[in-house]
Amino acid sequence: MLLNSNNSSLLDKVIYRINASPEKKITFAEYMDMCLYDEQYGYYTSKSIAIGPEGDFFTSSSISSDFGELLAIQMEEFWQVLGQPKSFRIVEMGAGEGILAKIILDYLQSKFPSFYECIQYLIIEKSTALKIKQKETVNPTKYPIIWQDWQEIDSESIIGCFISNELMDALPVHRIIKDEGELKEIYVTVEDGNLREIYNNFSTDKIEEYLMINHVNLREDSYPHNYQTEVNLFSLEILAKIAQKLKRGYVLTVDYGYDAQKFYHPQRYEGTLKCYYQHRHHHNPYVNLGIQDITSHVNFTALVESGLNFGLDNLGLTQQALFLMELGLGDRLNDLSSGKILLSELWQRRNQLHELINPQGLGGFYVLLQGKNLRETERKQTLKGFTNF
Ligand SMILES: C[S@@+](CC[C@H](N)C(=O)[O-])C[C@H]1O[C@@H](n2cnc3c(N)ncnc32)[C@H](O)[C@@H]1O
Repeated sequence: MLLNSNNSSLLDKVIYRINASPEKKITFAEYMDMCLYDEQYGYYTSKSIAIGPEGDFFTSSSISSDFGELLAIQMEEFWQVLGQPKSFRIVEMGAGEGILAKIILDYLQSKFPSFYECIQYLIIEKSTALKIKQKETVNPTKYPIIWQDWQEIDSESIIGCFISNELMDALPVHRIIKDEGELKEIYVTVEDGNLREIYNNFSTDKIEEYLMINHVNLREDSYPHNYQTEVNLFSLEILAKIAQKLKRGYVLTVDYGYDAQKFYHPQRYEGTLKCYYQHRHHHNPYVNLGIQDITSHVNFTALVESGLNFGLDNLGLTQQALFLMELGLGDRLNDLSSGKILLSELWQRRNQLHELINPQGLGGFYVLLQGKNLRETERKQTLKGFTNF
């Protein structure tokens, strides 16, 4: 299959990398990493991407401040359960434009001042362009916020919580395919100046290990010839780092995805890889190089199972709609009928709140809570957002 590309600078760089590699091929994960995170031309790195109506996709934090404020309420409860530690760190990974950080900090400052006094907000962000934008959104001279890379954070130094919203879906994935009964990895190579997919043996044993933790056997006959899917090894690398840096506290992951049974269902034979360009989605990662988002759904079973191996307890998996309703989104909807809001604003507010809980959209996202080194009583505590999971 020959594939078209149309961003010549990044395409040239990809072709150069392929030709410089010993076997004239790179894994799809390497290719996706270049498309999204190449320092010069990557989607997230080369320019300040806009998230929301101006950009290619929405996230919950770009819709209204409600998502961040309700998350802040959950974090205050984390702090209470941990015994109100004097120093509580909120570590946000993959912070986009920094909007969520600002909303959380503003809300905690005005509603929970004693908690706010104990907070240090730390952002771990891969994109230099986005780090600059984040510093414009949340001025570090006005807020208790810093930016660090993983290696700057000491092991077992964090008491508090790690959070991410739509980080895991933005990580480069390995892709595999069932070819003549055998599982192969999808690589990208060059033929006549065009990018082309070829299949070969797995590039790393970690792919086989990943498949095993999900308790699925893609070699079974129920999986058809040409069945394709993704393996998100980087999500587990990030989870391992979190487990290493967290001394005591929580890990909250919000994203779209499935458990392994649904993710690797035989009928999902084309996998979950999707590209977003100007609010339209399609399935061709070889066009719009560096100017379109490429994403895949998150496999929550892999996060739960490998989390257990890394010492992270599974405290609950719920859906965003339920999570936000339990934290007070229902009350916010009810307040709209109090008559205290202008009719002109009413419609917009109602739409925003409904969008956050729409089961076909953001409301269907999963919210995973994991914990480390919690006492028995703390672990058993029913948290507000997880009352009904
Ligand atoms: C889809 S955006 C989500 C943005 C934001 N959380 C929101 O809700 O609007 C993904 C973010 O993760 C960042 N990112 C991707 N890989 C990362 C990594 N390995 N470490 C830290 N940040 C990463 C991207 O640069 C981007 O800021």
